[in-house]
Amino acid sequence: MTDNNHDIEQPEERAPKRVIGTPSPATSTSILGHEEPRKADVVQVPGVTPQDEATARKGERYAALCFLVAFLGGIGFVVSYVVFQVGDIEKTQVSNLALGGTLTLALLGLAAGLTTWVRLVMPKYNLVQERHPMASDTQTRSYVAETFLQGANESGIAKRPLLRRTLLAAAAPLGLAPLVLLRDLGPSHTNFPAKLRHTVWGEKTKDGKPRKLIVEGSGSPIRAADFNSPGGILSVVPEGYEHDLNALAKATLILIKFRPEELKSGTNLNWTHDGIVAYSKICTHVGCPAALYEQTTHHILCPCHQSTFDAADGAKVIFGPAARPLPQLPIAVDSEGYLIATADFPVPVGPSFWERGDAEAEVRENGAQQ
Ligand code: FES
Repeated sequence: MTDNNHDIEQPEERAPKRVIGTPSPATSTSILGHEEPRKADVVQVPGVTPQDEATARKGERYAALCFLVAFLGGIGFVVSYVVFQVGDIEKTQVSNLALGGTLTLALLGLAAGLTTWVRLVMPKYNLVQERHPMASDTQTRSYVAETFLQGANESGIAKRPLLRRTLLAAAAPLGLAPLVLLRDLGPSHTNFPAKLRHTVWGEKTKDGKPRKLIVEGSGSPIRAADFNSPGGILSVVPEGYEHDLNALAKATLILIKFRPEELKSGTNLNWTHDGIVAYSKICTHVGCPAALYEQTTHHILCPCHQSTFDAADGAKVIFGPAARPLPQLPIAVDSEGYLIATADFPVPVGPSFWERGDAEAEVRENGAQQ
């Protein structure tokens, strides 16, 4: 006999000491695919109350129903994301309602199913948990593993394929949901980045005319002759897109009236009309609406991080974290005297997360030539 013989433990020696109230060891260590022990084989342990089969069957059906609801909710979430597009306030509300409702249904169904499973299918028992100041010894850990396997067997996951399959079906669409949402961050999203680079000011109306400037909230176009008090400021949106939040997120303007002699070289005078200048309202720092205007200094202040732009000098940055001027929109008047946009912004609006040096250099060059 060698020393190694001491390492070979007999089954009886490996058997952990049991704590009163914990369930009996499983007769099989597999979770899936093996037969459950027959009823007569189950050792009754004090403190453990097995669930009666009728209640367990009822719980199984309820839980399966809940998982089915969760499955439908998850599918509904993905379908809602594809079907309901955001746009104006009404469409956005419908989309939010559908996404929130279906996701709630999926999560509630899953939670209700798991709760029903635990309460009506699994046996009830008191668990005595020992605490150790350091890692447990090998024997205790193998005992924990056995207990875990026993719990898995007692949950009936192998014996009850209906529960197992409906649970997997309920979880699958929820796993897909983040992938669908991440799609918006990818370069394959429709027409990116042209969609971000341009605004609707560059588009003509249905009858082929340039878009009028509309006073935000009123729906009225602006006659240049009516906007005649120097120092005045208006918040303006594009005709035809007054309620389209996606379009307005990039296309909202501030319109400022100057005395012609107040305008400095940074402002492109060819894009003004009678001292009226249009700038993007979207701050070039991180995109807050920059619309606090100080009439005496001609400063536009962004309330978020105090970037300050000189409206008389091409909205160049004179203070704060913004790195670029607010883009200026080319404007003119139509035959009826209404202010219109003659083209889109020459550079992208909003936060400067991309390279736009070429476009800005071109704008500066054109300004110098004019
Ligand atoms: S968003 Fe305007 S200063 Fe930061």
